[in-house]
Amino acid sequence: MITPTHVDALRKVRFFEELTDEDLERVAKLGQRRKYAAGDALVERDSQQGGLFVLLSGTAAVEVGGTTHTLGPGDFFGEMALLGRTRRSASVTASEPVEALVIETTYFDPFLMQNPSVAVAILHGVVERLRAVQERIDGTHDASGGG
Ligand code: CMP
Repeated sequence: MITPTHVDALRKVRFFEELTDEDLERVAKLGQRRKYAAGDALVERDSQQGGLFVLLSGTAAVEVGGTTHTLGPGDFFGEMALLGRTRRSASVTASEPVEALVIETTYFDPFLMQNPSVAVAILHGVVERLRAVQERIDGTHDASGGG
């Protein structure tokens, strides 16, 4: 059942910010609400499991390249396998009990085509994430370069 809480949680996701409440209700209906205990793997690196995850509550850790990033309510992940049809690029583990809305690729593609503003907003999010990774790499190079 879709509750106002779902729509409120989706409203916090930046790439959904241009959607109307009706659109958000449709997104919420596309997704399955799943619960995870602390320590559970939400996705495992290199797995072929698809789907976009939106965190409704709790925090999760993305482990990639020896670094950990913490995601919280309103954050999303899983867009790389979703958009790139590739294996998972990182493992994501629940740091505490987590509730997530999981939207399977099969349902999300037609939705993106009907809502190009969401597709464009996701692209912005992907570029921001790429940019953050590049800056970290550059920072590492600066630090190791020693000046
Ligand atoms: P995907 O590859 O489908 O599954 C793992 C997810 O972790 C990935 O999509 C991104 O959403 C997220 N992710 C991967 N690398 C990073 C990173 N460097 N910073 C933040 N999130 C990431």
